[in-house]
Amino acid sequence: MPLLVTPALPAGSLAAQEQPHLEVRPGLALRPWRDDDAPAVRAAFDCPTIQRWHVLRLADDAEARAWTAQWTGRWRVETAVSWAIVEDDDRPVGQTGLRDVLLTEGSAQVSYWLLPDARGRGIATAALGALTRWSFTRAGLHRLELNHSTANAASCRVATRGGFAVEGVARQSMRHADGWHDMHQHARVRTDGPIRDQPVRSARE
Ligand SMILES: CC(C)(COP(=O)(O)OP(=O)(O)OC[C@H]1O[C@@H](n2cnc3c(N)ncnc32)[C@H](O)[C@@H]1OP(=O)(O)O)[C@@H](O)C(=O)NCCC(=O)NCCS
Repeated sequence: MPLLVTPALPAGSLAAQEQPHLEVRPGLALRPWRDDDAPAVRAAFDCPTIQRWHVLRLADDAEARAWTAQWTGRWRVETAVSWAIVEDDDRPVGQTGLRDVLLTEGSAQVSYWLLPDARGRGIATAALGALTRWSFTRAGLHRLELNHSTANAASCRVATRGGFAVEGVARQSMRHADGWHDMHQHARVRTDGPIRDQPVRSARE
């Protein structure tokens, strides 16, 4: 049955390129995951706040290694991409990336988390800016969605500061460990205008 619209992006748009390294700001970058990042991933998923909002924990080091290894395959089939957020020492302090990539619609869902020690310095917001810029310019996507529980105030601030407007509340649309949560749906589209750089901040405490 012929489609009456051309896909926003042809199949192969992502897989034809290597997953890039992206500079976020001096001293902060996004790079593909490596096997030796597994301890940082294990530490991240040991964090109760990450467990709470990502409804996932890792049972052992083997699962952490499998987590880091999954991304090459998901990039190749063009369904998801994840970067380690790294500082000058090249060690991961967090993660950002895209899930549910739909090339036909030119859309994807944004994801991010930060290790506890890295929070409060504007890193998530700055990383989101770099991810957004790459998504709309190099990857050619058209719309990025960002969904978080209405109880997750920190994520709401990151989304808002990243220029992702709130489009509405999807009531009781996701189950967390404590039951159903209303989810804020934010989104940014390519035509929303330039992505502003975020100021560097020192830790809150
Ligand atoms: C959400 C998260 C990624 C934010 O990372 P971060 O690098 O600390 O965020 P930033 O430093 O860029 O801060 C962004 C804004 O959030 C605010 N913020 C941070 N923590 C907050 C909290 N616990 N409650 C309310 N606001 C908070 C900051 O003050 C800042 O707002 P401002 O710019 O108006 O001062 C981090 O807290 C985290 O990893 N949380 C657990 C996982 C998670 O929630 N992932 C998202 C799931 S949708």
